Order: sequence, then C-alpha cells, then structure tokens
Amino acid sequence: MIRANRHKRVIAVCGKGGVGKTAFTAMLTRSLLESQKAGDLLVIDADPAMGLPNTLGIQVEKTIGHVRDLIINTARAGIGEDRVDLSSRLDYLVLETLYESDDYAFLAMGRTDSQGCFCSVNDLLKKSIRILSERFDTIVIDGEAGLEQMNRQVMNMVDLLIILSDTSTRGLQTVEHITKMVTEDHVIDCTQLGVVFNRVINNELLLTQAAERIGIEVFGMVPQDQSIVHYDLIGQPLTELPADSLALSAIRDFVANHIVQLDCR
Ligand SMILES: Nc1ncnc2c1ncn2[C@@H]1O[C@H](COP(=O)(O)OP(=O)(O)OP(=O)(O)O)[C@@H](O)[C@H]1O
Ligand SMILES: [Mg+2]
Repeated sequence: MIRANRHKRVIAVCGKGGVGKTAFTAMLTRSLLESQKAGDLLVIDADPAMGLPNTLGIQVEKTIGHVRDLIINTARAGIGEDRVDLSSRLDYLVLETLYESDDYAFLAMGRTDSQGCFCSVNDLLKKSIRILSERFDTIVIDGEAGLEQMNRQVMNMVDLLIILSDTSTRGLQTVEHITKMVTEDHVIDCTQLGVVFNRVINNELLLTQAAERIGIEVFGMVPQDQSIVHYDLIGQPLTELPADSLALSAIRDFVANHIVQLDCR
C-alpha cells in the first residue's frame, strides 16, 4: 500500500521464555497483512535462536550477526583500507541481510561468533537498521533477546510494547518485572505498554485482576489453541493456520483494537 505520508508503527513483543512470543509474532504478521492496514511491513527476529523464519515458513541465511562478525574480523585484521571500505558499505551490507517476500520484509538479528562487548559496532549497526526501517510503515519485533539487548542492538524506541505472558504466577511475575523495567528504569522508550495473556483457558477474570494489581493494561487474551500445537508438531508455518483458528481470531481483534488506530510518530 502506498501512502502519501508515511508513518511508522514500531511494535515489539517481549516476555518470559516459552510463553509464545514467536507464535504470537507469526500470527500477528498474518493478521496485519490480512487487515491491509499495515502498509509496508518489516518483521525483525531479535532472537539469536531464530525460530521465527520457520514459524513464518521462510528461509533466511544472512543475519545482522554475520555483518557484525565481518566488521569485527576486518577491524582485528587491522587493514586500514578494508576498514574504511567496510564502513562505507555498512548500509548496503545490512540491506543485503533483508529477506523480501511479496508481502513483507524480514530481518534476522542472528547470533555473533565474536566474543566481547562491541558497543561501537552495535551503534553503527543500529543506525543502519534505523535507516533501513525508515522505508517501512509498520515494524514488528520478536524481542526474545530481552529489553536491554533490544535497546542496545535493535531499537530504543517503540510505539507499542506487548508483554506476552502465560497464565502462571511466574509469567505474571515476569510481567511485573518488565513493567518496572519500562516504567521505572526506562530500559526502553515506549508509548504504550500492555500485556497479552496467551494459552488462556477459562481464567480471564483472575488474569484481569492480576493485571490490575500490577497496573498494566490488558491488550488481549489469546486462547489455548490445539491447531497451533498440531502445526508446531508437524512443522507447518503458523501463518497457514486455518482461518477459523481461535488464537488467530483473538489476534485479529487485537490488531483491530490496538494497532490499526495506533497513533504513530
Ligand atoms: N495459543 C497457543 N495455544 C497452544 N499452544 C501455543 C499457543 N501459543 C504458543 N503455543 C506453543 O507454545 C510453545 C512455545 O511457543 P513459542 O516458541 O512461540 O514461545 P517463545 O516465547 O517464542 O519461546 P522462546 O522464549 O524460546 O523464544 C510452542 O510449542 C507453541 O506451539
Ligand atoms: Mg521465540
């Protein structure tokens, strides 16, 4: 979709390990495409384990981690000319990692083989990712790597931060912890923060009360859905879930209620 004025929405998904962030991001991608309101869509996998491509049914080879290793190895080799050449090609190298389908673009942060802290390299890469993301209207990040890492390596400003949680006490404790990291420690700059409960089975009232206690808005509740379990078992992309999937339907509601009308920068 081409728009006269491009506005960006940056949506990030975070939360405790194994609560369904990747499954949610894949279904969110499908729902955003179905809504035809996302404009040009960029999906970013910030998890070094890179589970999202399979869940989306795509194959990705190049990652930002490869670019980082190339910069670090070139700097270590100490050949001045190569270093200058590399920094001038950085935006191109980042662009080369972009996977583009007919419907959306995809960027994998990947892992790095280089040991140590490389703040200046991260800053350079983050700047290139920012320049690249200017081309898109909606950016969705599966932020497995944790908020500090997302801030350091991907983006430090998001419009909508979704904390995904299961329905356990430990899940709720993580929601409370992340809420404090955002509202008190300002680990990441976000305009709207909310929780989405996943794998919900008849416990909506208790979950709503728990969210009230924590002081966080409930963006949605995604039911336990056996079709997700089945698709994940046979390795079928979640973007191909049946149109009447219960979880997908809840995510469509979330898109209609919280994303389509999102005020953007
Ligand atoms: N609504 C749902 N109904 C049924 N199963 C679900 C649902 N959401 C996620 N799952 C299942 O939960 C498991 C974990 O999901 P997923 O890999 O998306 O979690 P994650 O938060 O991305 O994990 P990690 O922290 O390891 O990246 C998967 O086996 C997935 O099939
Ligand atoms: Mg994941």
